[in-house]
Amino acid sequence: MDGNGRWAKSRKLPRTAGHKKGIEATKAIVKRAGEIKVEYLTLYAFSTENWNRPESEIDDLMSLLRFYLKSETAELHKNDVRLRVIGFREKLSQDIITLIEKVESMTANNTGLNLTIALDYGSRQEIVSAVNRIIHDGKTDIDESVLSTYLFTHDIPDPDLLIRSSGEQRISNFLLWQCAYSEFFFSDLMWPDFTSEEFDKAIEAFRARDRRFGGIESVQA
Ligand code: FPP
Repeated sequence: MDGNGRWAKSRKLPRTAGHKKGIEATKAIVKRAGEIKVEYLTLYAFSTENWNRPESEIDDLMSLLRFYLKSETAELHKNDVRLRVIGFREKLSQDIITLIEKVESMTANNTGLNLTIALDYGSRQEIVSAVNRIIHDGKTDIDESVLSTYLFTHDIPDPDLLIRSSGEQRISNFLLWQCAYSEFFFSDLMWPDFTSEEFDKAIEAFRARDRRFGGIESVQA
């Protein structure tokens, strides 16, 4: 969800104003995803590297997250959304961890959109942590499926489509293992300007892709 900061800067507003506006865009996309029956939507909200930002911005982001979790839980639950959070939880404040646990258990049996928020998430760190736990468990002869079960995403499928906003064209430590065969869609819109129409455009582009997974025949998703 890139571009909140630049969106704000271009309007001579503080970066937080961009993050607030970014939440509005997020709500609209979550709603749209539910409407068009997307089964899984994963949002990259805070990377492991984002801890390097100024403390005031980190505090603002955590406050917004707290606000989102508090104010949206009932609505998400009503709309049959199942919410999960992936990432390392140790550095998060206890009240946010409690909120996450509450919303995860409250929505655990919902069968609509599977909404995943990646928070203090870094893909290389996720893989290293998986390998360490595999070693700790004494496993020696591992294959792809074993490693997958040790990832944060063990209970969600690999993404079919990865959307990146704000004109950036890199993967930035997001789901490196899981994106092996994902299709990519790059949008020039800053995240606060990212609309349902742009989301539809991304899905439309995805539908036109010829996915062969290394073979020669098209494979339908
Ligand atoms: C990217 O813009 C956005 C973020 C790093 C934070 C997004 C997270 C929130 C708005 C917190 C709440 C999350 C949810 C899921 C409700 P940027 O700051 O990197 O902007 P730039 O690329 O223009 O610098």
